[in-house]
Amino acid sequence: MITIVVLLSVVGLGTAYVVTQDNKTEPPNLPNPAEGVAESESESASITDVELQPLEHSLDEFDSLWLVVNKQRPIPLDYIPDDLRQVNVLGRQDKSASELSMRDDAATALEGLFAAAAQQGHELLLGSGYRDAELQNFYYTNYVNAYGQAEADKFSAKPGTSEHQIGLVADVSPASLNCYLETCFATTAEGKWLAANAHLHGFVVSYPEGKEAITGYQFEPWHIRFLGIDLATELYENGQTLEEYFDLVSG
Ligand code: DAL
Ligand code: ZN
Repeated sequence: MITIVVLLSVVGLGTAYVVTQDNKTEPPNLPNPAEGVAESESESASITDVELQPLEHSLDEFDSLWLVVNKQRPIPLDYIPDDLRQVNVLGRQDKSASELSMRDDAATALEGLFAAAAQQGHELLLGSGYRDAELQNFYYTNYVNAYGQAEADKFSAKPGTSEHQIGLVADVSPASLNCYLETCFATTAEGKWLAANAHLHGFVVSYPEGKEAITGYQFEPWHIRFLGIDLATELYENGQTLEEYFDLVSG
């Protein structure tokens, strides 16, 4: 599939479009071309034979399901999602109700994910969900003090650049806390189950193994981002990060 994503910078709109060559499969989840957008009559594909299609969700708007946040794409420190709620799953006892919250759709999806895991014999635990910029600053500063900034920057986001601040992310662990926030989580039964099933509930691993140079972060098999089932499945099947899929810079 050849897909070129063109980001049209429309001030105040943050609109993004996908350009697909004729006769090529286009990403799922995309509505029909907007009225008035040119479609080629030609049978053969060429660079002029393109369809401009608005994305289902903006990559730029703060409340968008597909908002892309990374080292190069910060959000305001005072941004707080307006539909946060506590997730009804087992959470780390030493975490606040706020940190065990997520945006409503993501919380519902995580509840479904944990229920499916339990049905297959895996007891999962939510270690960290929503983090406001102040809490992110607390973690980041502690890591910088403990490991130095260069090292901390490999696994902790500066305040204003963490996906946790948009309430669409969960750090997941075995209920036993075995390999809690450690790479060895990927080798546990729970970690393997999560890697194979998260997309079925709309989540992707944001910082996969082998993508460190792209994401700017080391492998975090526990950090999953909600994107909805269609896009999560597309990324899972393509082996792409969110930024790769939309041709955006990250690390
Ligand atoms: N551990 C991820 C990168 C964060 O701090 O958001
Ligand atoms: Zn995380």
